[in-house]
Amino acid sequence: MGMGYWIVYAFQALAIVVLFFELIYAFFQKPSRLQTDILLLGFATLIMMAGYMVEIVATDVDAAIIGAAVSYIGKPFTMCASFFFIATYCGYHVSRKLRVALAIYSALIPIIVFTNHYHYLYYATVDYTTDAVFSHLQLTHGPLYYVYMVSIFAYTLADLVLALIEVKRSKTRFEKASVMWIFAMIGTGILGYILYLLGWTGGYDSTMAGVTVGVFILFLLFVRYRIFDVVGFAKENALNNAVAGLLVLDRRNRVAYSNKLMDEMTASAFSIGQLQEFANGTHVTYNERTYLIKKNPIMNRDEEMGLIYELDDVTDSYAYAARLEKDVEERTREIVHMQRSVIGGIANVVEARNGETGSHIIRTAQYVSLLATQLQKTGVHTDVLTDEYIKRLVDAAPLHDLGKITVSDAILMKPGKLTPEEFDAMKLHAAAGVDIIEKVMKGVESEAYVNCAEEVAHYHHEKWDGSGYPCGLSGEDIPLSARIMAVADVYDALRSDRCYKKAMDKETARGIISEGSGHHFDPAVVKAFFDCLNEIEAVC
Ligand code: C2E
Ligand code: SIN
Ligand code: SIN
Ligand code: FE
Ligand code: FE
Repeated sequence: MGMGYWIVYAFQALAIVVLFFELIYAFFQKPSRLQTDILLLGFATLIMMAGYMVEIVATDVDAAIIGAAVSYIGKPFTMCASFFFIATYCGYHVSRKLRVALAIYSALIPIIVFTNHYHYLYYATVDYTTDAVFSHLQLTHGPLYYVYMVSIFAYTLADLVLALIEVKRSKTRFEKASVMWIFAMIGTGILGYILYLLGWTGGYDSTMAGVTVGVFILFLLFVRYRIFDVVGFAKENALNNAVAGLLVLDRRNRVAYSNKLMDEMTASAFSIGQLQEFANGTHVTYNERTYLIKKNPIMNRDEEMGLIYELDDVTDSYAYAARLEKDVEERTREIVHMQRSVIGGIANVVEARNGETGSHIIRTAQYVSLLATQLQKTGVHTDVLTDEYIKRLVDAAPLHDLGKITVSDAILMKPGKLTPEEFDAMKLHAAAGVDIIEKVMKGVESEAYVNCAEEVAHYHHEKWDGSGYPCGLSGEDIPLSARIMAVADVYDALRSDRCYKKAMDKETARGIISEGSGHHFDPAVVKAFFDCLNEIEAVC
């Protein structure tokens, strides 16, 4: 035996060992059709290869015949298992009936071969040669051999058609490549067989050499294409959950699978790196659709095999949620509006008891609005005086005396001057206002609005020099809202008839505000008052 013999022999022996480990690997995969098919293919191939090995190491014709016969136990099963495998991989369901029929057919072949010496339907004559690279049998074929041959070509054609359809259907290069490699794995054995039939191998049955290559391709499919652990699982997952986008990363963060939508998105909307930064449950928008990102590890017996990123198209439910949110906002606005009118009404009643007409409430709010806008224009307290702040303040201004509801008619409507005791009772209206606002508005109105209303109610009688009530705050310790409110409130009180006093003319009222600057009032607010005096005096 020459050098060539030993090289081919070594490769074939190595392939048997590799195949053995591949079988063990496949055995421990997640139970599935794919696993069953690959196990059948592997076992059949192993038996076939063992038979061929016996044939080539045989030193006499009897041993060689036994080897050839053993190889026929596996051979027909490799053909039907290859067909099952590629069909399953391509997502077809091979019916039970067809599986059983092909298995029975495959079992018949070895029976015919083993009983050949009774009927000679498979081999007509058996001869033995040792003159080529290998010792091997030289057979002339009987009629059933040709039946078998035709079935091999039928299988091959079916496999090829399935593979071509799948390649055409596959959307990513990775998918196409894995299908082509699967076909190559099956095809190498058949190619070896064809070369032998054509007589190009000097009588040596090169099927075994082809199958050897197939075994190494299977290794590639396991390791590089992860036909089990990642892609198969991911496909199954995608079909089960009907996800829109799917990306599978292997253990080393390489892309193992990416569907069409995910390809497009990772090419234009975000990179795979960015995708990995997104938290589970993030929403992304692409082409006017909204997708929910889900990421999950692929686990295999407690080991993380990779990561699956799924994109669920949640556009419809998302739009629904957004609409719902808008509806709720709308309703809340309505409720707030209703509540404000009710509270505004109460404020009016309160002022009416004080000998007021309803326009007092409106005027006070207008003064507040003019003063706050003027201060904002002047550029003081710009950090506080935002448009939203002013809007809240103007809305809250009518509530400043809400606490007067707790003051008795005897005091509130007293035509003359209050005694010190009576005035002390009157002073309680500031704190009482806070209580009422707290009870009535908490939970419905925004916190910022409630705070503003409480500030104004609590502190509108505080004075800049600290001589006011109820807390005796001074200077900028008094909230700006209340400092503005104080000027508006007093000016309005001066210009109106009260049960205890007559309305003053503009000049006198102006004078009292001016004198109050730095004592009763914040000088900045008084300055603003005079800056927009024309507008203030135009209010009626
Ligand atoms: P109000 O009538 O809304 O007056 C609000 C504030 O305007 C007063 O706060 C006071 O700072 C100022 N103010 C009102 N009228 C005059 C005025 O003629 N001259 C000057 N310089 N300032 C005036 P104040 O004093 O803390 O009073 C709070 C509330 O107590 C008043 O609200 C009113 O309801 C009541 N009140 C005050 N004094 C009397 C009074 O003599 N008789 C009666 N019946 N009620 C009074
Ligand atoms: C294998 O099952 O390892 C591949 C051999 C073949 O193509 O039949
Ligand atoms: C054959 O049975 O000769 C074909 C080998 C194979 O593809 O497994
Ligand atoms: Fe007051
Ligand atoms: Fe007032």
